[in-house]
Amino acid sequence: MNMRLVSQDWVLSWALLLLLSCTTYSSTAMGQPENKIKTDVFLSPKFELGPGSVANKVYFDVDFPRGHVAIKSFNAEVVDESGKSVPLYETYLHHWVVEKYIQPKNVSQKNSTEKIVTVRNSGFCQDDVLVMYYGLGSETRRTATDVPDPFGVEIGNPSEIPYGYVEKWLINVHAIDTRGVEDRFGCIECRCELYNVTKDEDGKPLSPNYIGGLNCCPDNSQCRLKKGFKGPKRSLYLKYTVKWVNWDDKFVVPLKVYIIDVTDVLNKSKGMSPVHNCKVEYDVEPCSKGYISSTCIDVRRTSFPMKTGGYVIYGVGHQHVGGIGSTLYGQDGRDICSSIAKYGNGTEAGNEKGYVVGMSTCYPKPGTVKIADGETITLEVKYNNSELHTGVMGLFYLLVAEHL
Ligand SMILES: *[C@@H]1O[C@H](CO)[C@@H](O)[C@H](O)[C@H]1NC(C)=O
Ligand SMILES: *[C@@H]1O[C@H](CO)[C@@H](O)[C@H](O)[C@H]1NC(C)=O
Ligand SMILES: *[C@@H]1O[C@H](CO)[C@@H](O)[C@H](O)[C@H]1NC(C)=O
Ligand SMILES: *[C@@H]1O[C@H](CO)[C@@H](O)[C@H](O)[C@H]1NC(C)=O
Ligand SMILES: *[C@@H]1O[C@H](CO)[C@@H](O)[C@H](O)[C@H]1NC(C)=O
Ligand SMILES: *[C@@H]1O[C@H](CO)[C@@H](O)[C@H](O)[C@H]1NC(C)=O
Repeated sequence: MNMRLVSQDWVLSWALLLLLSCTTYSSTAMGQPENKIKTDVFLSPKFELGPGSVANKVYFDVDFPRGHVAIKSFNAEVVDESGKSVPLYETYLHHWVVEKYIQPKNVSQKNSTEKIVTVRNSGFCQDDVLVMYYGLGSETRRTATDVPDPFGVEIGNPSEIPYGYVEKWLINVHAIDTRGVEDRFGCIECRCELYNVTKDEDGKPLSPNYIGGLNCCPDNSQCRLKKGFKGPKRSLYLKYTVKWVNWDDKFVVPLKVYIIDVTDVLNKSKGMSPVHNCKVEYDVEPCSKGYISSTCIDVRRTSFPMKTGGYVIYGVGHQHVGGIGSTLYGQDGRDICSSIAKYGNGTEAGNEKGYVVGMSTCYPKPGTVKIADGETITLEVKYNNSELHTGVMGLFYLLVAEHL
């Protein structure tokens, strides 16, 4: 059951945005007063988790702003049945992603996957990998996603939707209940041994070198509990808040969504155009004995040319526990955007000790940071490797305007 909680709460959001515009985006135009920012708050369908269990759900045709609009921000979190924020040490939000697809109009069943065609972002990875428009994980409560005026992510453009089709959105939410588990951080890093998983979802045996990652914490899997632990099942929702304005050719400038993956390897074969190969996850091996732990840093890099560049309007990294930060560099070595992991130090939702509760973001003054067409960019991702980390990610979201 999807619920639309609040609609067009524009008075408050407009006031907030004005405040933000004045403090953060000093140079931008204020937009058009008649094109007000609307706020929709939605809930995903309900999912249920018992202690140690995992939900990795895909919900098709979810509630979303309709029509030709520009998205200004997208925030999400896990809430319980009373609407209360659930802390990460109870329900770890491994990730949520929002994907766009089209489907023939005459397919009536709401969640049918019949004839769906994914409409991916402008990013680089192969085939169906990292195609989302929005997506974050545990850091979602303290990561800014707003874009300044006059920019927005354009959706629902009728001229881009093939005749007879409708544009729809799906949400994938992956949450891990860690109440009463033997090893909380092992469970959230999907250690195969804790889940007693030896095969992937197709039943193929996992390589002995694969000790943790998404293959080991699929939907309905169970992480090992402390002996005798019993706890109730609980009902949860992904609550997501979308801010948007009506599309307006004159006053809204479209942004392209790029996702860069540090595991991306450009695969060139003769006579073929190069293919990106993104693995999405990787392991961070513990640093050798004898190192002082304050110097144990795992650094990964990937470099490749960006065919079409543009002005960087927003940037943010995505990392898991152990993440320190990531930086995107231009061909000449200049810093395009750095995003630093923020850790919680308390117990309340949004400030859970030991978890990545936010990522810092970049809002360069529009026009000041430009990536040239064909420029080689380098993503560098750092993890603290004083201990092993499995199934970590090093993603970078970039919102780029081709024109100002
Ligand atoms: C939907 O329309 C297409 C042609 O436009 C047709 O091939 C298909 O069978 C229709 N499907 C349903 C479920 O009616
Ligand atoms: C769609 O929903 C029905 C009923 O809720 C369920 O039985 C079915 O498995 C769902 N299909 C998909 C593809 O999610
Ligand atoms: C782990 O899996 C094996 C084989 O599938 C099974 O025999 C064993 O009981 C499982 N252990 C636990 C703790 O669930
Ligand atoms: C490169 O592409 C070829 C052919 O698709 C494939 O066999 C090979 O595994 C790829 N290499 C890498 C490093 O992805
Ligand atoms: C990595 O984490 C360890 C243990 O929490 C800590 O002692 C060390 O200072 C950290 N290193 C860096 C580079 O942050
Ligand atoms: C957490 O960090 C903040 C800011 O650094 C500090 O003011 C606060 O006292 C800390 N709280 C705890 C519980 O350590």
